[in-house]
Amino acid sequence: MKALDLITKKRDGQSLSVAEINFLVQEYNSGVIPDYQMAALLMAIYFQGLSNKETSALTAALAMSGENIDFSSLGKIVVDKHSSGGVGDKVTLILTPLVAAAGVPVAKVSGRGLGFSGGTIDKLESIPGFSAALTTKRFMKLVSENNLAIMVQTENLTPAEGKLYALRDVTGTVENISLIAASIMSKKIAGGAGAILLDVKTGRGSFMQSRDEAFHLAEIMVRIANDMQRRVVSVVTDMSQPLGYAVGNSLEVKEALAVLRGEGPPDVKQICLVLGGYMLALTGRVRNPDEGQEELARFLENGAGLEKFRQMVISQGGRAECLEDPSLLPQAAYHAEVFASQGGYLREIDARKVGNVALLLGTGRTYKGEEIDPAAGVLLNYKVGDRIAQGDLLATIYSNREGACNSVCRDLNNAFSIGEERVEPASLIHGVVPPFPS
Ligand code: URA
Repeated sequence: MKALDLITKKRDGQSLSVAEINFLVQEYNSGVIPDYQMAALLMAIYFQGLSNKETSALTAALAMSGENIDFSSLGKIVVDKHSSGGVGDKVTLILTPLVAAAGVPVAKVSGRGLGFSGGTIDKLESIPGFSAALTTKRFMKLVSENNLAIMVQTENLTPAEGKLYALRDVTGTVENISLIAASIMSKKIAGGAGAILLDVKTGRGSFMQSRDEAFHLAEIMVRIANDMQRRVVSVVTDMSQPLGYAVGNSLEVKEALAVLRGEGPPDVKQICLVLGGYMLALTGRVRNPDEGQEELARFLENGAGLEKFRQMVISQGGRAECLEDPSLLPQAAYHAEVFASQGGYLREIDARKVGNVALLLGTGRTYKGEEIDPAAGVLLNYKVGDRIAQGDLLATIYSNREGACNSVCRDLNNAFSIGEERVEPASLIHGVVPPFPS
């Protein structure tokens, strides 16, 4: 087999066989196929697409390029959860301890945030001492002992995916739905979970801006999981406005703690219960998602979810005092306030604009390895549909970077749209793939 022949085959619109895809991934991973040939192949895929069979084959080849975690000795189905990325998305922080509190092992492998969308690991690592840099052995031990561990993706898991993603990032080939699906699912497969809950976000603050694209991605990922004999459900959820009120790492931890205490924003609570209901139903722990939701609601009320979160934080080196007293979490040295220039109804809070403002404040990275500010972010005061008066405080901006807060006030103001007529906020849940028996 020769890389050049396979590049021209794909360029001319033909399908690649499983053996050809395995060859390309293995030879690229070991450095035999150079970046320039793989870049040409990616561009051919970008324009010609991949069939379902090719997408599953690529997923499997990427998953097999490194270590595969095996939880079979646990004798229980382990569940993982993936979000396609959003603004203010602190769901994992609440959902994973809730599900673990129900006796279902949760093994979550996460990447760090890149771009406007925040990453779970950065949020958790804003808790002083917390580390997600676990060895596979420690990860498996914590899942077995506590039913819960969250680990940052290691070099050993799907190394070919890491190389390929970096190349896609610099060759304009990220935005291909089959490549996105294979990239996400290869990491989930290698992470060892037998059941996978996929939260595919749609709207301004997500990668899938249209509902159709989001459903398409959800369907492809479900098909891949089925091909790989994993239990799976994809829930398409709204990301037109930020989730909850807090955007930024330690700000989001505080908001997640409030939800785990039975308080917090209703939208965050609702989405956690809906997704959690599916996770419990997927593993067979409950008969249907509604029953799962009811059980998890009890764990919010009786503090069992918070207790599980505390156990995870302590087990991964975090200072538990911060959970009782969130003022011990990183605090920003500077802040600024944004006020409403007119009264009326809040018609839009553009999640993408808020995410970009947060990024400028230091919540995330514009390039891999960039230092972040754990205390930076935006605290919103309202949601779409709320009535506001001229001069009301719309949001507070936080950062440790001198001058950063004032420089983004105008941009943040532009994220708000205020009008005379009230609009209904978009539904939080757009749909489920495949339709789940209730
Ligand atoms: N997230 C991933 O993990 N991979 C992609 O290709 C895009 C988003």
